[in-house]
Amino acid sequence: MAFKVKDHYFKKAKQENFVARSIYKLEEIDKKFKIISKNNKVVDLGYYPGSWLQYVAPRVLPEGKVVGIDIKPINEKMFAKLKNVQLWQKDIMDVQSVADLGEEEPFDIVLSDMAPNTSGVKSVDQLRSLSLVEMVFSLLPIFLKKNGHLVIKVFESNEAQVFLKEQKKRFKEFHYLRPKSTRSTSKEFFLVAKGFLA
Ligand SMILES: C[S@@+](CC[C@H](N)C(=O)[O-])C[C@H]1O[C@@H](n2cnc3c(N)ncnc32)[C@H](O)[C@@H]1O
Repeated sequence: MAFKVKDHYFKKAKQENFVARSIYKLEEIDKKFKIISKNNKVVDLGYYPGSWLQYVAPRVLPEGKVVGIDIKPINEKMFAKLKNVQLWQKDIMDVQSVADLGEEEPFDIVLSDMAPNTSGVKSVDQLRSLSLVEMVFSLLPIFLKKNGHLVIKVFESNEAQVFLKEQKKRFKEFHYLRPKSTRSTSKEFFLVAKGFLA
């Protein structure tokens, strides 16, 4: 079953010229929760290889832009065609301000599909994922505009549930979702948080 799902979305992404099957997770989230609008300024944390960029960049035209960060080297050639995309090779743990990304103001939307390198040890991977999630939440006061939206991938764990519960009061709406294209073996889910109370 896991492989059937993988094959279907993997092939679909290839046919539709998306660089990763993750595109269908964001598409489902956006269709359901209406996250991305034209002219939005968006930051995509852990963008590589870039299917979310491919989805977002055309939707925020004509005035909007997408800033992508990843620890992996930038594939300049691939995104040279997307004029409203700016990429940085950075570890999120080293980012302290929007100025570190060449920006002056916070973003309308923060997206994070970041996933740590998995060790295979469940408790270690859960902790690594949670520290990425905690880092994103700690950056929100400087990264996200008032009333802005956050979409973030989280690995299931009791600690993550406790942490997220504490964060709920920072947004008007808080939704959990496991997109249909998620592999059946995966322990990930997405938090969609709308209306940042700043
Ligand atoms: C599942 S992939 C993202 C796929 C992407 N959303 C797409 O649609 O193509 C997760 C990415 O998170 C990045 N990542 C993990 N830890 C990071 C960190 N500390 N800082 C920046 N990026 C990180 C990884 O390098 C990896 O490329």
